[in-house]
Amino acid sequence: MNESNSNKVLITGAAGMLGSQLLLAVPEGVAALGTDLREAPGVGALGVDLTDEDQVAELFREHGPFKGVIHAAAYTAVDKAEEEPELVERVNGLACGVLARASAVAGIPLVMVSTDFVFDGEASVPYEPRHPTNPLSVYGRTKLSGEQQALEFHPDGTRIVRTQWLYGPRGKHFPGTILGLLEERDHVRVVSDQIGSPTSTLELAPALWDVLLKGEPGIWHATCEGEGSWYDFACATVELSGIEDREVQPCPTEEFPRPAHRPPYSVLDCERLTALRGAPMAHWRDALKTFLGS
Ligand SMILES: NC(=O)c1ccc[n+]([C@@H]2O[C@H](COP(=O)([O-])OP(=O)(O)OC[C@H]3O[C@@H](n4cnc5c(N)ncnc54)[C@H](OP(=O)(O)O)[C@@H]3O)[C@@H](O)[C@H]2O)c1
Repeated sequence: MNESNSNKVLITGAAGMLGSQLLLAVPEGVAALGTDLREAPGVGALGVDLTDEDQVAELFREHGPFKGVIHAAAYTAVDKAEEEPELVERVNGLACGVLARASAVAGIPLVMVSTDFVFDGEASVPYEPRHPTNPLSVYGRTKLSGEQQALEFHPDGTRIVRTQWLYGPRGKHFPGTILGLLEERDHVRVVSDQIGSPTSTLELAPALWDVLLKGEPGIWHATCEGEGSWYDFACATVELSGIEDREVQPCPTEEFPRPAHRPPYSVLDCERLTALRGAPMAHWRDALKTFLGS
């Protein structure tokens, strides 16, 4: 590929939970330009609708050349997605194709952030990147469509990075929801039969930068180490926050029926990332402790 001489990396979804952390974790010697659907001066993000090929072409023309792209923008409201599949396909599918074509023309690497929801969750050991996909929801199907379009239009430059169960300093997240609920009541019931790896954006953002700057094209998995249920995640949040007079109770998924079907087991095998970086990402409990203490 024609590596660009520019040191400027385009970060999409820069006002979101992950994108904002990517901007805060820019490595030395690299600059970043953030964009989001709506201009967000607070985080320094330009307003660009990525489903509009003309807007993306103008972005590359006016603000390029870029060294690479980390694409963290997406339609992420998993349950609402079931109501408007065409819009979700445009944002999660088509926009990846648009960015992949622009990146291919520019000859620069593209990191596309994807999800464990591309799997059906029927496995019982961690999913390897090449495991067959079988999404169960509109969100999962459209993210898979985005993966396929990025790989089709920019096969030599695309790095798909699947992650899961994100939380971080910016935006709405699970630990914040649990702590908020326990301010109003003395107990909370949380599903204990969905297993994954809670992942802090404080851990994920530097890993994504490494995949962009040092990783080969192809599919990567990136989560915190270890696994647990949402119930385990809630218990750890309460325990690590030093709360003693509140109770977290386990319950089955059937107790909280949701429009979008979730994979029951979606732990990801992150061996390829561990080999690249020489160490795994932090264990999810350690990362949660760091987050709650920060
Ligand atoms: N959160 C998780 O647990 C999780 C798990 C696995 C993978 N991921 C993936 O990780 C990435 C980051 O997730 P996140 O939780 O940080 O998401 P987020 O906070 O929802 O941020 C995504 C951003 O993308 C923007 N966006 C939506 N449509 C757009 C468009 N047409 N053009 C430009 N920007 C658009 C959104 O703007 P609006 O808010 O204005 O719509 C939002 O600011 C996504 O690719 C997501 O699929 C997330």
